[in-house]
Amino acid sequence: MRLNKFMALAGVDSRRKCDEIIAEGRVRVNARVVKKLGTQVDENRDLVTVDNKPIRLKGEYIYLMLNKPVGTVTTVIDPQHRRTVMDCLPKLNKRVYPVGRLDYNTSGLLLFTNDGDTAQKLIHPKYEFEKTYTAVINGSLTDEQISMLRNGVDIGDFITSPARVELVGSSHGQSTFQVTIHEGKNRQVRRMFESVGSKVEVLKRIAYGKLKLGDLPVGHTRPLTEDEIKYITSL
Ligand code: URA
Repeated sequence: MRLNKFMALAGVDSRRKCDEIIAEGRVRVNARVVKKLGTQVDENRDLVTVDNKPIRLKGEYIYLMLNKPVGTVTTVIDPQHRRTVMDCLPKLNKRVYPVGRLDYNTSGLLLFTNDGDTAQKLIHPKYEFEKTYTAVINGSLTDEQISMLRNGVDIGDFITSPARVELVGSSHGQSTFQVTIHEGKNRQVRRMFESVGSKVEVLKRIAYGKLKLGDLPVGHTRPLTEDEIKYITSL
């Protein structure tokens, strides 16, 4: 396929504009700058980058967001035959996998894709993707406990890095905190609250980087928007 067609199908711009981008020396095929118009690429084998960002044909990959219900395991197959997050997905003609995991008792934003490279980047600590949760506890926390959570706490095998922790509501003797962390240690938010002598009763992830759960109902799935896909695939 001609390079400008490949670029247009990948959503870079119109074919004519893609020719200009090629002539400007901004396109590489397998790491080599290509300026010759009419260059052919093999869409299955060649790595094409524009301004050093890989581009890919649309339609090849699926990106979904699920509002994971409490009581589902983040795994593809559960040997104990519990309900898994895969049971929450609609029928798809491609196999997708969850990106990272949420605990059995945690609800909220969970991504699925068949784009392994992007999934690896999303969970890699190097990219420090912010994850935001709402955590409900019985009672409240003192200013000192909140400062400890913000500054970093020892959760056993790890000292957490600074986090954003804000009280966002309280009613019926319970308090709701919004917590934003960069790491993704096992049961991290629950263990952070445990380390200051509290216990998370309800935990929900509401954002993953710039991706927001919004009002997606529990147990429902939606495809990511073009902008959301651009954001996660241009890491
Ligand atoms: N922190 C937790 O404690 N549980 C999750 O599922 C995610 C973050």
